[in-house]
Amino acid sequence: MPELVNSQQNISLIQNLTSNKKYYIQTYGCQMNVYDSELVATQLENSGYEKTDKIDKADAIFLNTCAIREKAEETVHNRLSNLHTLKKKNPKLILGVLGCMAQNLKNDLLESKPYVDVILGPDSYRRIPELIKSREQKNEYLVDTKLSKFEVYEDLYPSRSEGINAWISIMRGCDKFCTFCIVPFTRGRERSRSIESIVEETKKCVSEGFLEITLLGQNVNSYKTPNGTFPELLKSVASVKGVKRIRYTSPHPQDIDDDLLEVMRNHSNICNQIHLPLQAGSNRILKRMNRTYTKQQFLDLVNKIRKYMPECSLSTDVIVGFPGETDEEFSETLEVIDEVGFNSAFMFKYSSRPGTKAAEYSDQINEDEKQSRLEKLIKLQKNKTLIANKKLIGTVQEVIVEKESKKSSHQWAGRTMGNTWVIFDKTNESLKDNIKVIITDAQGITLFGQREN
Ligand code: SAH
Ligand code: SF4
Ligand code: F3S
Repeated sequence: MPELVNSQQNISLIQNLTSNKKYYIQTYGCQMNVYDSELVATQLENSGYEKTDKIDKADAIFLNTCAIREKAEETVHNRLSNLHTLKKKNPKLILGVLGCMAQNLKNDLLESKPYVDVILGPDSYRRIPELIKSREQKNEYLVDTKLSKFEVYEDLYPSRSEGINAWISIMRGCDKFCTFCIVPFTRGRERSRSIESIVEETKKCVSEGFLEITLLGQNVNSYKTPNGTFPELLKSVASVKGVKRIRYTSPHPQDIDDDLLEVMRNHSNICNQIHLPLQAGSNRILKRMNRTYTKQQFLDLVNKIRKYMPECSLSTDVIVGFPGETDEEFSETLEVIDEVGFNSAFMFKYSSRPGTKAAEYSDQINEDEKQSRLEKLIKLQKNKTLIANKKLIGTVQEVIVEKESKKSSHQWAGRTMGNTWVIFDKTNESLKDNIKVIITDAQGITLFGQREN
């Protein structure tokens, strides 16, 4: 009886359509991980999974992890212990650990968290459809943390959430080996995507309504292909029609050259903003960190950037309490911070990472000392941020309307080209409009203004 067969087919079709499995991804760490989670989302969606924001409704939960400091790892360990409860309630739940911790701590995870089903390093996400299938059929673990020498996701398009900014990863890995840093071990060697594939992805982002593109890489300006280096790539992306703003992160000071600054100066859609990680102000510590520049070379670079782009906003990363750092050497960091006047800074206590060179140094600084140095640094930088922001009072800034202000439904929030948030009263503009705002006040890390008529 053909009707019966047909109706049975219909029922199973409906079941397939309505019983889509759900995934939940939680992302820790840097923007590279945000981008990678979007790649993972694409893979899961291709395997018939649907995104959910409710973790207790998920059939598969993935944590995309970070190993940069001990605290980042602790957070994930705690999260996994909590998720064990969900797993006990639902043994079919797939629990996956992705990213830098998976790469770095797979043995530790296998031993201490045997209820984790999947451990995939940053170069293994292409295996997700295959592993989902095999995990659904057999109850097997899957571990793959092999790092690749080649770009592995060139043709894979990430599943992005709507918004203003789209991240585009342009290179992976790091060959710099700063002595404190785990990234070269978790992410492997440097490799770059082709200019064409990045330009294609940029066009796609524009057609989907993104206004801002942020080019990403652990060492973004080491980008290198037979068809060009970072300045050429930046020029090509800036020439894509419809790209309103371009940012990039994180560059290494050593690889910022005249060509790059020239391209930035010549393209009005490349934001006048550079993240310039200092790490420390003392030459001896910089050398011990293997940062490849001296304090003077860093200061000269700042001057050069400001010659090319006097309004360029600068941010930085600083580590306090690197092994062997004396009080005087720490004071040199404060001096550089004072002299440069960064618009903002990410400031960290040194965290020993097993496997790195600095973890073997015998002169580790105690926790209280690190804490007290961090507090001094934060106090100074807060003041510097306010001074830099107050300098903008009276200027007119280009701002994209990004979202409603958290404090009032009568106000918008948006960022300047320099990447500082501005709060301003609503008039007749809409979300995503690019408008001019006169800055009237600066408080904390935020600017306040009024739309220019
Ligand atoms: N590739 C980027 C940095 C990536 S990590 C660069 O070279 O600038 C982001 C920041 O974390 C670093 O700039 C550094 O300030 C900080 N960091 C890295 N390893 C750390 C460690 N072991 N302890 C404390 N902070 C660290
Ligand atoms: Fe880490 Fe240094 Fe590479 Fe940055 S440049 S990712 S700090 S090793
Ligand atoms: Fe963390 Fe890995 Fe990024 S260690 S900072 S997630 S590259």
